[in-house]
Amino acid sequence: MTKNRVCEILGIQHPILLAGMGGASTPRLAAAVSEAGGLGVLGAAACGPKMLREWIREVRSYTDKPFAVDTLLPASVRRDDGAKNSEGPSPMDLLPQHMAFAEEFMKREGLKKPTKEELAQGMGAANRAPGEPMFLTKEFFDAQMQVVIEERVPVYAAGLGNPGPWMREMKANGTKVMGVVGAVRHAVQLASAGLDLIVAQGHDGGGHNSPIGTMALIPQVVDAVGGPKGIPVLGAGGICDGRGVAAAFCLGAEGVWIGSAFLASEEAGLLPYQKQAIVDSNEENTMVSKSVTGKPARLIRTKWAQAYVDAKMDPLPMPFQSMVSSQILTAGQLGKRSDIAPGFAGQGIGLIKSVRPARDIFEDLLEGCKRAIAAAPREI
Ligand SMILES: Cc1cc2nc3c(=O)[nH]c(=O)nc-3n(C[C@H](O)[C@H](O)[C@H](O)COP(=O)(O)O)c2cc1C
Repeated sequence: MTKNRVCEILGIQHPILLAGMGGASTPRLAAAVSEAGGLGVLGAAACGPKMLREWIREVRSYTDKPFAVDTLLPASVRRDDGAKNSEGPSPMDLLPQHMAFAEEFMKREGLKKPTKEELAQGMGAANRAPGEPMFLTKEFFDAQMQVVIEERVPVYAAGLGNPGPWMREMKANGTKVMGVVGAVRHAVQLASAGLDLIVAQGHDGGGHNSPIGTMALIPQVVDAVGGPKGIPVLGAGGICDGRGVAAAFCLGAEGVWIGSAFLASEEAGLLPYQKQAIVDSNEENTMVSKSVTGKPARLIRTKWAQAYVDAKMDPLPMPFQSMVSSQILTAGQLGKRSDIAPGFAGQGIGLIKSVRPARDIFEDLLEGCKRAIAAAPREI
């Protein structure tokens, strides 16, 4: 794949980026993708400031190549209005009811209630040192961003929200800044904040995602903010092999941000039963649910997400739903239950057939893209 301006901006060889994935995009995986010629991205959303600094230093100990830190900056939490609800009871009022719902679910499923220590160590749990701010609070995000600035990371990616308030300091450090969007209006907001790259992630993708399908979203974001005079746009959501990479380029993307394709890599931070669940899944095995974080996220079908559907209950908004779901997910992981805690994943996982080294996955993406472009009809 020839170098383009995404490669120039990021200082990489191929415009293929590992997506930031909490629990999965660890220093080992990020370093493997950077070493293969792409950009490795740390899925650091749940890292407290101490752990975030350790992760940045760890990835630097594995590679001299550029890498990125991805965190979440949800606007509602940063405005401190997550607990407000203009109509009806507040999320705080509803919390006991949801906790009771979770307890009943655990009993029904034979799940053992995790201890405080197990909860603190659960995958995807906020890895906070004593005295650090609470996960998913304004103070937590401020502390993470302070580390991003102090450590002068090469690239920062906001998986949710607008990093505008930190742009001046990051730019002064030479940090390139990117943001993930699921709608044209969000892309326009981020473009006006001076970001270097925009990721357009569609409904097909794993984790928090947009109601708009990837194929429809990418060209509309490109038309709004991309093109030769605009900001490079990367495509994301459901891209799991080289044909998907080629398709994103045909839609006007200048690079790709790929998550699920790397979930069944040897280096990914998932548990072995979760990697097996990816290998065993097909294109019908995911669903979108707010049951984990309070925002719509695509995950492998689980009884926990289905319990909310069956009970016709709406999960609590971020950050409250994590207080409810963390005990279920930790108990599910401890019991190696793929029916309870298989994890987030996109619709492309049916293409994944085995657990492999990240470098092999990366090379297949590159070669598959070249083959798809060569095989495309020259005329129709
Ligand atoms: C297991 C998993 C965890 C994720 N965690 C995060 C996260 O912590 N922060 C973030 O910005 N996006 C997260 N995402 C979304 C990815 O960054 C990316 O947008 C998505 O994986 C792209 O779709 P794909 O999985 O189909 O490639 C996650 C996705 C997955 C599959």
